[in-house]
Amino acid sequence: MKRTLLITGGAGFIGSHVVRLFVTKYPDYRIVNLDKLTYAGNLANLRDIEKSPNYTFVRGDICDYDAMRTLFAEYAVDGVIHLAAESHVDRSIRDPFTFARTNVMGTLALLQAAKEAWGNAREGKRFYHISTDEVYGALPLDGGLFTETTRYDPHSPYSASKASSDHFVRAFHDTYGLPAVITNCSNNYGPYQFPEKLIPLFINNIRHGKPLPVYGRGENVRDWLYVEDHARAIDTIFHRGRDGETYNIGGFNEWRNIDLIRVVIRVTDRLLGRPEGASEKLITYVTDRAGHDLRYAIDSRKLKEELGWEPSLQFEEGIEKTVRWYLDNQPWMDNITSGEYERYYEEMYQGR
Ligand code: NAD
Ligand code: TYD
Repeated sequence: MKRTLLITGGAGFIGSHVVRLFVTKYPDYRIVNLDKLTYAGNLANLRDIEKSPNYTFVRGDICDYDAMRTLFAEYAVDGVIHLAAESHVDRSIRDPFTFARTNVMGTLALLQAAKEAWGNAREGKRFYHISTDEVYGALPLDGGLFTETTRYDPHSPYSASKASSDHFVRAFHDTYGLPAVITNCSNNYGPYQFPEKLIPLFINNIRHGKPLPVYGRGENVRDWLYVEDHARAIDTIFHRGRDGETYNIGGFNEWRNIDLIRVVIRVTDRLLGRPEGASEKLITYVTDRAGHDLRYAIDSRKLKEELGWEPSLQFEEGIEKTVRWYLDNQPWMDNITSGEYERYYEEMYQGR
């Protein structure tokens, strides 16, 4: 094997796309997927590649420092792509401790394990930390973009925990010389996203004729990127990004929530063979999310100019592929929306 890559959180949404890309594109890399399999981790996301000879799954918790040290030694890990995290803002509002534990302490445990394993032998080593544009705070509706030098200003417990983990990664680079790179990406969409997030949640609710809970007035703006484009950016940056650098990843694709929701309704109704706009009546305005950031928008020119990455998919095409995937993969959806998640969802939306 040419090198051994540890991908954390590989059973989650983005992680599964990254694992799939690396396992298929780099047969001479050994890919070790380390995942705790929380509610968001799902091995069904990787069924198509799980038997590949260069793929290994290890169930474990990034917060378990001793287990991480053992893992680095056992597999002779020389690269890390760190995606494992608690990722949903609404959950972070209800349970900030879990976010601090996993996102901050877990990242720290992983950093310390890498530092210890690699020592001064830094050649060919890389710790790649996946972060979010939410660390930059919120933009006004009438302009501005987050660049790599925008001051950190997180508002939710989720973004505060991600900001903290980013700072630890930089601290390990600056203090101990750990070869590290960070990327901050905008909202992802596509197959295998857990249906607590806006797009899969709404596709599933439209299918079942359930209310579509729009927070506030639906005026918040998000910048959407197709998940496979994110995975390609990660591949580019893992191999060619410069140590100590930060790169923003985004598709210059801003949508007001309510406008995006109307597109999702239109495409889903069409693919279900319903009359145009039939599901518009499901739109239900509910109490806004506490501390709801108004607008996110990423300036990804550095990535394009330095490394030549650009999103490959137009939004209309991406959303069509996405809706089609969820409608064609109902067992996947039904499997995770039963049981524990169903109870969480009922509780979450009660009183909104
Ligand atoms: P996800 O919630 O779908 O997946 C997270 C994965 O991490 C799951 O498989 C889960 O089991 C695993 N995990 C959680 N805690 C763990 C622990 N303690 N030890 C080991 N594994 C653990 O998340 P996602 O949307 O795929 O996001 C992946 C990463 O990308 C996160 O770091 C997130 O902050 C970042 N990110 C996400 C988006 C987005 O739009 N989803 C945008 C930018 C950045
Ligand atoms: P989400 O998918 O949770 O991503 P994030 O909060 O990380 O941006 O939400 C995307 C946008 O959609 C955000 O502005 C909140 C809003 N939203 C709703 O209006 N209703 C919902 O049920 C959900 C989950 C989100």
